[in-house]
Amino acid sequence: MTHARLTVDPAFAIGPIRRQLFGGFVEHLGRHVYDGIYEPGHPSADAEGFRTDVIELVRELGVSTIRYPGGNFVSGFRWEDSVGPRQDRPRRLDLAWHSTETNEVGLHEFSSWLDKVGSDLMLAVNLGTRGTLEAIDLLEYANIPGGTTLSDQRIANGRIAPFDVRMWCLGNEMDGPWQLGHRSADDYGKLAAQTAKGMRQLDPDIQLVVCGSSSAHMPTFGEWERVVLTHTYNDVDLISCHAYYEERGGDLGSFLASAVDMDGFIETVVATADHVKAVKGSDKRIDISFDEWNVWYIDRFHGVDKIEGIDNWPVAPRLLEDVYSVADAVVFGSLMISLLKHADRVTSASLAQLVNVIAPIMTEPGGPAWRQTTFFPFSLTSRLARGEALRVKLASPEYTTAVYGEVPLVDAVATHDAASGDSALFLVNRSLTEAITVTADIAALGATGILETHTLTDDDVNAKNTLEDPEHVAPRENTSAAISDGILTITLPPVSWTAVALGTTAGM
Ligand code: AHR
Repeated sequence: MTHARLTVDPAFAIGPIRRQLFGGFVEHLGRHVYDGIYEPGHPSADAEGFRTDVIELVRELGVSTIRYPGGNFVSGFRWEDSVGPRQDRPRRLDLAWHSTETNEVGLHEFSSWLDKVGSDLMLAVNLGTRGTLEAIDLLEYANIPGGTTLSDQRIANGRIAPFDVRMWCLGNEMDGPWQLGHRSADDYGKLAAQTAKGMRQLDPDIQLVVCGSSSAHMPTFGEWERVVLTHTYNDVDLISCHAYYEERGGDLGSFLASAVDMDGFIETVVATADHVKAVKGSDKRIDISFDEWNVWYIDRFHGVDKIEGIDNWPVAPRLLEDVYSVADAVVFGSLMISLLKHADRVTSASLAQLVNVIAPIMTEPGGPAWRQTTFFPFSLTSRLARGEALRVKLASPEYTTAVYGEVPLVDAVATHDAASGDSALFLVNRSLTEAITVTADIAALGATGILETHTLTDDDVNAKNTLEDPEHVAPRENTSAAISDGILTITLPPVSWTAVALGTTAGM
């Protein structure tokens, strides 16, 4: 049996855990909107055509803000197509995903769905093929109470109160050559600064996210952030990071260490933002919106899913419908640990995506909706991580990975809510073969009892939930957990993710 030791203390505070850290992302892509959240003929559909079984699962997932409507989709999107009488809305070619967009679900319908799931809207504007004026127009339509052409148009379209959208993304992945309207950092930085200034003239209180890199492996990474922030520093609040991970070449060991890459990505962007801050002599701090993150088997999209042909533009095709394994969920859980470990600077994040498309929730037309393996680390972390994120002092054995070199077998983060006295620990065991017993000094937390334990693991790391077997994988109680004299001991099975909720006697 291998051992790891850790110490948890509220004095090791990283920063407050903002609810926006548990955001999601809905893109008009594949069967995400149509045949996902919206299926009028489905037995569970409500009067507006939204699947109530999906609504319940999204609520259970615990998603705060939801980024919309893209993604790559937004760079070819005309927002005006998605409002007004449905019968008048145009059918458009979506070049990003080689599909037909019917615009049956648009801004008003999506906002109504958000009210049902209890989440807030985060809107992306098209800075790929459109510009500053269209972004300002959308902001006027969404946030001005009335008395102007666009705000009155919103009211005429049935929405009297403004949508009052607080968070706005200035385009999507503008560093990516695949993006419609892809630009150099210099060109994008100028456009983003001009658009941000205009949007703030209209509504000074909105939060603006400028596009960072599509991954830490882009050839322009680092320099992109420096140039873009040099143009936009005074006009934006956050810079985005996007990262997707997948197991490559059967190297599960390296895949399980993916959070090492995410840690480095975040820390490099923070350093770059702070460099620009220093050069400008600014008092202002730019934080990170990690507004696309997940496990995604991208090679499968390029090889199998990709749609082509001048006469082939399907509506809601099956695209990016990755089926996640236990190993995928363990990596996913470790990515959430990485986000919490950087809660001081990652103040907003969006899991990409939510339903059917690289998603924790799957649906079958006319059939059931179910939880993928990745659903569980998200729902549990979102529910249990409250108050402040705490850095843990960790002594863990290491293993050698082909991609990241020596990596700790255990990674962990803690949270502590001073108001309730409750705490939580999130842990991952990356060992392919060894259970690891963790001894955690938690005396300083004042926790005397274990409220809940959840461990996600399986003898078969490839185990999945499917239409045929939708409840095959689920987290189980970890009965090894015990507290004695301020020491928590718990055994983590190989390739596992664990959450432990702790409380004081008074709070139990
Ligand atoms: O989430 C899928 C796609 O990944 C998004 O549309 C894009 O922004 C990213 O490349």
